[in-house]
Amino acid sequence: MSVGQPLTRIDGVRKVTGTAPYAYEHSVDRPTYLYPIVSAIARGRIRRIDASAAQAQPGVLLVMTHANAPRLWLRTDPELVLLQSTDIRFKGEFIGAVVAETPEAARHAASLVAVEYEPLPHDAGFRADHPGLYAPRKVNSGKPADSLRGDPEAGFAQARFTLDQVYTTPFEHHNPLEPHAVIALWHAGRSLWPTRKRLTLYDANQGPLAVSLIVGPLLGLLPSQIEVISPFVGGSFGSKAIPHPHIVLTAMAAKLLRGRAVKCALTRQQMFVGTGHRPASHQHIRLGADAVGRFVAIEHHAVAPTARHKEFAEQTATPVRMMYATPNLRTTHRLVPLDLPAGMFMRAPGEFTGMFALETAIDELAAQMGIDPIALRLANEPDRDPETGHPFSTRQLVRCLTEGARLFGWDRRSAQPGEHRDGEWRIGLGVASALYPNQHVLNTRAGIRYVDGRYRVELQASDIGTGALTILGQIGADALGVRFDQVDVVLGRSGLPWAMIAGGSMGTYTWGNSIVQAAARFRAKHGDAPREGARATAAGRLPKDFKSRSRHAFGAHFAQVRVSAVTGEVHVARLFGMYAAGRIINPLTARSQFIGGMTMGLGAALHEESVIDPRFGHVVNADLAGYHIASHADVPDIQAEWIDEFDPYFGPTGAKGIGEIGIVGVPAAIGNAIFNATGKRLRGLPFTPDKLLE
Ligand code: MOS
Repeated sequence: MSVGQPLTRIDGVRKVTGTAPYAYEHSVDRPTYLYPIVSAIARGRIRRIDASAAQAQPGVLLVMTHANAPRLWLRTDPELVLLQSTDIRFKGEFIGAVVAETPEAARHAASLVAVEYEPLPHDAGFRADHPGLYAPRKVNSGKPADSLRGDPEAGFAQARFTLDQVYTTPFEHHNPLEPHAVIALWHAGRSLWPTRKRLTLYDANQGPLAVSLIVGPLLGLLPSQIEVISPFVGGSFGSKAIPHPHIVLTAMAAKLLRGRAVKCALTRQQMFVGTGHRPASHQHIRLGADAVGRFVAIEHHAVAPTARHKEFAEQTATPVRMMYATPNLRTTHRLVPLDLPAGMFMRAPGEFTGMFALETAIDELAAQMGIDPIALRLANEPDRDPETGHPFSTRQLVRCLTEGARLFGWDRRSAQPGEHRDGEWRIGLGVASALYPNQHVLNTRAGIRYVDGRYRVELQASDIGTGALTILGQIGADALGVRFDQVDVVLGRSGLPWAMIAGGSMGTYTWGNSIVQAAARFRAKHGDAPREGARATAAGRLPKDFKSRSRHAFGAHFAQVRVSAVTGEVHVARLFGMYAAGRIINPLTARSQFIGGMTMGLGAALHEESVIDPRFGHVVNADLAGYHIASHADVPDIQAEWIDEFDPYFGPTGAKGIGEIGIVGVPAAIGNAIFNATGKRLRGLPFTPDKLLE
């Protein structure tokens, strides 16, 4: 059996020796280099662009603006509609590009392009009482924006204990290791034949399919006429799930420079504009509990900003619909339209945001009632999904909390805040629950081929650094009944079987499902001694009644913090995650996913915040000097464990998703530990020293 073995990554050596090419590093003939021209104002129109100085620079091949850019065809995604008019929708928007023989020449020439604007008043200031507030029809996960169960007001009227608080989270940016980059090559010739390759994109994405499906119609190409190549991707966190404007900009330039490859690598600063972000949030939570702590009513109201030109609503107030039992519940999502770049998915969109508020509120209520915060959660464990009434496929939250507490040493926590001290340091422990749902899954396919005496598992998705290349080989080997070293995995290329992107923590169970079916078909067709060239493809298959189960992964996060009474610094001394997340295919790569998520959660708790200056509409700390993420010194002791689980309702591998649950609830656990250490309750991320010294 390969599944369950802690195998090292098959791409590990290539990654650490720098020989696994990222998008920008593919070798192409006679490359050219693109540098974007960006708007200096947040809203208005372009009156005039003078490109003459840029054109006159040596090595400049093209200055592209709205005046000479190719026309775009099907304009379904407003974020990708570039250079089609003189309108400006946010500061830093691409309004043109220079392509030159060297990156330096392109960048210098771009700085020489003179743009005359006709500014219009803009609004980039997020506030929850904004007059433009509106209700989206649906949130990102597809659920309705509002929900109502029972009669919350009647519930609160009976409550023995109540809590009514506001929690906030800031704008955050993804900042993967590999900045967004693309190489575009528009092939010579004008063949309209549907499978004739017209455009090649070496790209950084979570799956080639989304790129060809979205970019194709914009450029007047069939998806089958676009070749997308992304064998290795250096992280994403959601920012590479769907194509961003730099891909369209580069492809348009490549169309004008037919036959020459155009390379574009965004700078770290540019990634704070056009590659997505997690919108800020303002969350109002009300909890009502009876004398023994059972919730009698809950309200969760989430307000967030959205780009005026493209709506995005995190599903912030949806976790509360199924986490705990309560007869009375009201949730709402509202959006404030602003002149900002479009927000999008960032690791556990909504679950991350909403569970910070909910799990902090529960800790507050427990403190008010004088009971243990784990006991309060256990008192509200539902026996079915309170939202749908369906039984849970598997739900081991109680064991995560209780087993996790034992392994973490929760009994050493003092119920009284501020009791544990070490010189200037106040020491405290905190806990929070975690969940991650099974997303609605589109059909996804995989193929098995027998080539050069080896088995090849093929599908289109990309490995964004998770270990997918390795674990899909493990799943394939077991399904084929062969050894792991007889199997190769090929991902990250169009032309392979259509597959889901690496997103929504869906990869392992959806791709794994289709690999299991493809292997079964392969063996049925070709037996266990196949001939060269034998192949089979198949789509995934789920149990018939899978929709009659509520499907989620669960976990519990525990934190120990040390807070300086002098400086207000918070050190997270220990961070521990206990998960029930289905079958673990590879303990080594799974642990990396969990502790990676927890590390990101720690960074969100203590550091991450994109500060927008509403006067100009841009992020002022748009680089890694000003935007802080957790680094090694921040995480002295971080551990993950799990409970063995097999959930057939996610698919035949029994696995659930683990890419995102590690971040969910971590900031709440840390904030709750800060309260336990100091008696001070922080309700806004990040927990910077100034907030503790206030
Ligand atoms: Mo993601 S945030 O699962 O693309």
